[in-house]
Amino acid sequence: MGGSGPRFRVGAAAARPCTLVVCRGCCCGNPRKYPRIDHDWQLDRLHAAAADSGGRVAVRVSDCLGPCDQANVIVVQPSTAGRQAGGKATWIGFAMGDDCTEELIAWVTAGGPGVAAPPAALELQFVPPPREAKAARTRR
Ligand code: FES
Repeated sequence: MGGSGPRFRVGAAAARPCTLVVCRGCCCGNPRKYPRIDHDWQLDRLHAAAADSGGRVAVRVSDCLGPCDQANVIVVQPSTAGRQAGGKATWIGFAMGDDCTEELIAWVTAGGPGVAAPPAALELQFVPPPREAKAARTRR
């Protein structure tokens, strides 16, 4: 025995990518609600960007996240590095269309919350998480 065994870096395996949680519940991605939007293209585009990111970006599809009146909803979860730098999960409402999708991809590819500043136009679409929105309504 003399320290020649395998060495593991603690925490290295736990590094998480910046993750797009894409709602595809009852309203988000529903062509009856937004018939002029190509929802399938958007999801394909996001998956392709994740595949091209070398593991820095991931996409998860979720059932209804809550704020259906702001469909399509996408939550951007910070990477491990982003979280360590103070980044928080960011909720984006009315997240559809080419421009919004490309801005989302640009942001998460650059590092996402805590690492890179969001595009200004995308920032206008930030919405409070459902719990915060409910608390704000209760305070009035
Ligand atoms: S279906 Fe997306 S928030 Fe409800």
